[in-house]
Amino acid sequence: MGSKYSVMASLVDVLASLDFETVLDAFSGSGVVAYALKAMGKAVTANDFLTFSATIARATIENSSEQLDSADVARIMGPNADGRDFISRTFRGLYFDAGDLAFLDSAWSHIAHMTGSRRDLALASLCLAAAWKQPRGVFTVTSLRYDDGRRQLRTPLRTLFVEAVKDYNATVFDSGRDHHALCQDIADIPRADFDAVYLDPPYAPPRDDCDYIKRYHFLEGLSVYWQDRPIRYDTMTRKLEKRFTPFAYPRTIREALRSTFDQFRDSTIIFSYSSNAVPDATELMALLKSAKTHVQMIEVPHRYSFGTHAAAQRRQVREYIFVGE
Ligand SMILES: C[S@@+](CC[C@H](N)C(=O)[O-])C[C@H]1O[C@@H](n2cnc3c(N)ncnc32)[C@H](O)[C@@H]1O
Repeated sequence: MGSKYSVMASLVDVLASLDFETVLDAFSGSGVVAYALKAMGKAVTANDFLTFSATIARATIENSSEQLDSADVARIMGPNADGRDFISRTFRGLYFDAGDLAFLDSAWSHIAHMTGSRRDLALASLCLAAAWKQPRGVFTVTSLRYDDGRRQLRTPLRTLFVEAVKDYNATVFDSGRDHHALCQDIADIPRADFDAVYLDPPYAPPRDDCDYIKRYHFLEGLSVYWQDRPIRYDTMTRKLEKRFTPFAYPRTIREALRSTFDQFRDSTIIFSYSSNAVPDATELMALLKSAKTHVQMIEVPHRYSFGTHAAAQRRQVREYIFVGE
């Protein structure tokens, strides 16, 4: 959800037109933008307040050399080393069958003894395998019977894990620069010396909220084996407590944006937002202008509507990229 994957080409064009060396991707999510920045030769700091996102960023952006080898994979796929069964007990009948849940427990019994980038790669791969096997990749649906036709929904998690390791191993490269991955609330990041800051916060919907924990609680728990992540047992989905962020609510988004723009007023700001969220483009422009002198806006069609009539055209979601210099 919210991944920039589908608008990467336009975003890379914008980023390539700007002059900077050091950059913060302040809301890194899947890590796809921070990774593109690494590939563009920039010195990247990726940040996200969710641990599973920060783990992906450590594995793919901070890490420049380590890969999982076949001995690592064989060990993780081996029998449960300590008999742990928290996942099997807690999520029985939810999301995955008993064999898949037992695999997550036994994989963790080995990953618990790993350190550094290899541990990050193993956890990123476990999370990716779990997301692949979940309808639309989100953990709001608990049914074992949902089938959208994807091969992954019928593939054992252990097989998907091996595929995910191959994919994540393939992302590892040395760009010749140092990169960092942080796991902090954006408000706590010091106004450090970044030439540029990329901001892709949650998009506050006009009604409701944009809560990432509601959709990704299982991946967040899996990335730490639910250590210090209390489960709400009153929920069918066994989700975690919400992680408050002012960006997720129409009531608090304006002040959150204003103070974030101010926090990074000494850097070039590249800011992504969507037309189906609040505030609107005019207000966003005014907010960014309160911190930056020169502001421009680029509009990118995000999802194409198949309708041809005018109303359908108007409903098209547009992605805005603002640049403040
Ligand atoms: C729109 S997504 C970013 C998507 C990312 N650019 C990508 O392409 O995958 C927003 C991200 O902001 C993170 N987030 C929300 N509030 C935050 C906060 N206050 N501090 C840091 N990260 C936050 C969420 O965990 C989520 O991963």
